[in-house]
Amino acid sequence: MQGATVSLRANSEVGGEKPVKNIGDENSERPNPRGLDKIVADWTRISFVDGAKGSLTYRGINIAELAAESTFEECAYLLLSGRLPTTEQLQAFCWKLRHLSPPADKLLRIVKELPPMASPLSVLQVALASLSCMELGDRLSPEETLFENAMRIIAQTPAIIAAAHRHERRMPLISPLSTLNHAENFFYMLTGQIPSKKTSQFLEIALIAQMDHGFNPSTFAARTVASTLSDIFAATSAAVGSLAGPLHGGASSRVVEMVLACKEAGGKSAARDFVQDLLNRGQRVMGMGHRIYVKTDPRARILEDVVFRMSSREDVQADYELLKAIESAAHEAFKERGVQFCTNIDFWTGTLYRHLGLEKSLYPAIFAAARVVGWCAHILELRQANRLYRPQSEYRGLSNVAYVPIEERNGPEPK
Ligand code: SDX
Repeated sequence: MQGATVSLRANSEVGGEKPVKNIGDENSERPNPRGLDKIVADWTRISFVDGAKGSLTYRGINIAELAAESTFEECAYLLLSGRLPTTEQLQAFCWKLRHLSPPADKLLRIVKELPPMASPLSVLQVALASLSCMELGDRLSPEETLFENAMRIIAQTPAIIAAAHRHERRMPLISPLSTLNHAENFFYMLTGQIPSKKTSQFLEIALIAQMDHGFNPSTFAARTVASTLSDIFAATSAAVGSLAGPLHGGASSRVVEMVLACKEAGGKSAARDFVQDLLNRGQRVMGMGHRIYVKTDPRARILEDVVFRMSSREDVQADYELLKAIESAAHEAFKERGVQFCTNIDFWTGTLYRHLGLEKSLYPAIFAAARVVGWCAHILELRQANRLYRPQSEYRGLSNVAYVPIEERNGPEPK
């Protein structure tokens, strides 16, 4: 987040007062490393998140072009291999993804052993970690095994999420169909319905837009675990744990809750008061703000366009207009408080999924089904020139403290 950090509570502190300093600033001359803000931790060639321009590229190609022209499989190939595939390469890649996608029975048995109320993301975290306990054949060279396991994870993540979702609802599990592509199969395994062309196209755009995003928290978690030469399953399982947090992958469901709450408060005409009240209570407007983007998150524009294209349906149009009212109320409220937070991708994804008929508990997991490609691409990249991630810390604790035997510690607390 660029610019000063200012308290957003509308009271005497706000409005032109000295910015509230970050915790920890006062003891440190160096830039405040809290949250690793502005720290360049490593290099990558996979995606470039240009915060100043508000642009995102995958291997140099603009995300808007990929969202409009490409497919999940083609973008996955691009991120993993570094270039767009030929027809033959793409066909082989799609075949391999299909071939690897049905999870092993023993993995599905593990999923079914978990309590039904477990969220799809926590089931995915267990399932990926379990894959590292399974015999996955050592007939390949280490590089081939790594690439094959990356494809196995990308291929099986939708099936694992769908299995968790249907197990939670005590519905029979559905196997993928060889006639469907990756996005179509994901929707089919979740719902039991073969999606319309529009539905699968809209879902695919959302998956492409979320595939990779520089050193976001979950990708950084994957790289940190992979840098110890721990296996790709443990690294992606750790990434899932990071994504589950509401400040990262969990925001889209909360945006949908926010929209429904605003509807109850009176809808569009109440949006301004609704947002002001949220901020005055010290709450965050979900789907707003980003550590890198200041003015705009290009993915939010892409997803907004998808929701707009769906708004020929009356129910979608009402939500689209309400989201636009909340968005402008939020930007106005931030401006009044002297701060600027952009609309981020999660402001639109939840509403898109809801109108595709998908349930709220699935939204962070759908994000994972996309971002797993980025996690795997980063692990492959790191392994080409691996170095253990081990940053330093600025020690601010006590020193030269004498050890006191326990007998002498039981008196009154020292002043
Ligand atoms: C994703 O990094 C990535 O690339 C992530 C991501 C990806 O593709 O991987 O883009 C995906 O995570 C999108 C973000 C989804 N999360 C949300 O929409 C949740 C709401 N947003 C915020 O929590 C926040 O904006 C973050 C987490 C996105 C970024 O926050 P920072 O850079 O860590 O800033 P911060 O939390 O230190 O906040 C600084 C100040 C705070 O004020 P004080 O507590 O110091 O008084 O700004 C305030 C915050 O309260 N603030 C907000 C706000 N975002 C920050 N206040 C109100 N509403 C908001 N949305």
